[in-house]
Amino acid sequence: MMRILGVFENVSKVVWKVLNKRCNMNIISMDIILIFVFAVICAGLVEGTCPSTCSCVDNSSGSHVNCNSKYLGRIPTLPNDTYHLNLHNNNISTIKAFAFMNLPSLRNLNLNNNKLRSLVSYTFINLTNLNALYLQSNKIQLLERNTFINMTKVFYIYLQGNNISDIEEHALGNLTSLTLLRLTANPLNCDCSIFAFWSWLIERSSKYYIGSSATCSNGTLVKSLQSAVLDTCHRK
Ligand SMILES: *[C@@H]1O[C@H](CO)[C@@H](O)[C@H](O)[C@H]1NC(C)=O
Ligand SMILES: *[C@@H]1O[C@H](CO)[C@@H](O)[C@H](O)[C@H]1NC(C)=O
Ligand SMILES: *[C@@H]1O[C@H](CO)[C@@H](O)[C@H](O)[C@H]1NC(C)=O
Ligand SMILES: *[C@@H]1O[C@H](CO)[C@@H](O)[C@H](O)[C@H]1NC(C)=O
Ligand SMILES: *[C@@H]1O[C@H](CO)[C@@H](O)[C@H](O)[C@H]1NC(C)=O
Ligand SMILES: *[C@@H]1O[C@H](CO)[C@@H](O)[C@H](O)[C@H]1NC(C)=O
Ligand SMILES: *[C@@H]1O[C@H](CO)[C@@H](O)[C@H](O)[C@H]1NC(C)=O
Ligand SMILES: *[C@@H]1O[C@H](CO)[C@@H](O)[C@H](O)[C@H]1NC(C)=O
Repeated sequence: MMRILGVFENVSKVVWKVLNKRCNMNIISMDIILIFVFAVICAGLVEGTCPSTCSCVDNSSGSHVNCNSKYLGRIPTLPNDTYHLNLHNNNISTIKAFAFMNLPSLRNLNLNNNKLRSLVSYTFINLTNLNALYLQSNKIQLLERNTFINMTKVFYIYLQGNNISDIEEHALGNLTSLTLLRLTANPLNCDCSIFAFWSWLIERSSKYYIGSSATCSNGTLVKSLQSAVLDTCHRK
């Protein structure tokens, strides 16, 4: 930060000299301009500004950032008060762990129709205010442990139309508000590796909209798998 300001000061001194010679500007008005420019730059460095390809609307909830259909290949740098992030229909293939950690206000995250092949652990860590997470129509193959964890206000998670074959143990945890988890159109592998997810689903069998349509690659509903069969394989 200090280095950036230092560089800026040197540059501004040169600019000032030139301006001073040309227009005889007095020092006070130059100072005011510099202070204003500093303030804008500092605000931008600390809070992040609206990504140039996106459009942002601010209100008292924070920034509503719309990057729908912009051919983005990665998550742009975002304002730290982003509460609604629309990245629908882009070209995003990977997201780094902790990618959203500096966005504590985030409520709604739309990543539908991207090129995601995987989600690493801790991608959505500490998104304590997130309500809805849209990940449908990607190419995700595996849900790793600690991926959907501690999102205590999440109501909806949409994962239909991916290529998910495996869901690791503790991939989903502490989703205390979850009412809908959509997993339709994923070729789940229903050998012994499905056991952890199957148990998680059975514990929530009273909530109809949680994973009720999760289907094995052979067409059998995960919920209808027989506990006796899975129990034996669990003991192996
Ligand atoms: C801010 O705007 C969004 C729509 O972009 C709206 O859903 C939200 O309720 C607004 N919040 C406030 C506090 O006005
Ligand atoms: C964003 O950063 C600014 C400056 O550090 C800070 O004052 C503000 O509280 C932050 N907002 C959020 C939502 O973290
Ligand atoms: C999308 O990303 C792929 C690589 O992941 C690249 O080959 C392709 O050119 C990108 N398409 C656009 C429209 O940016
Ligand atoms: C997530 O939040 C918990 C509790 O607030 C905190 O202990 C932990 O360090 C946070 N994790 C990260 C990666 O920031
Ligand atoms: C989940 O939250 C608990 C309590 O805040 C914290 O101890 C734990 O480390 C968090 N889990 C992860 C994976 O961050
Ligand atoms: C789906 O995943 C399998 C591996 O589980 C892979 O062989 C296949 O190419 C993937 N299909 C698509 C359309 O990405
Ligand atoms: C769930 O949250 C509780 C308390 O907030 C914490 O003790 C526990 O470690 C969390 N579980 C996971 C899997 O993060
Ligand atoms: C699908 O696979 C599961 C688990 O291996 C098995 O229990 C079930 O009978 C199979 N269903 C069909 C229609 O083959």
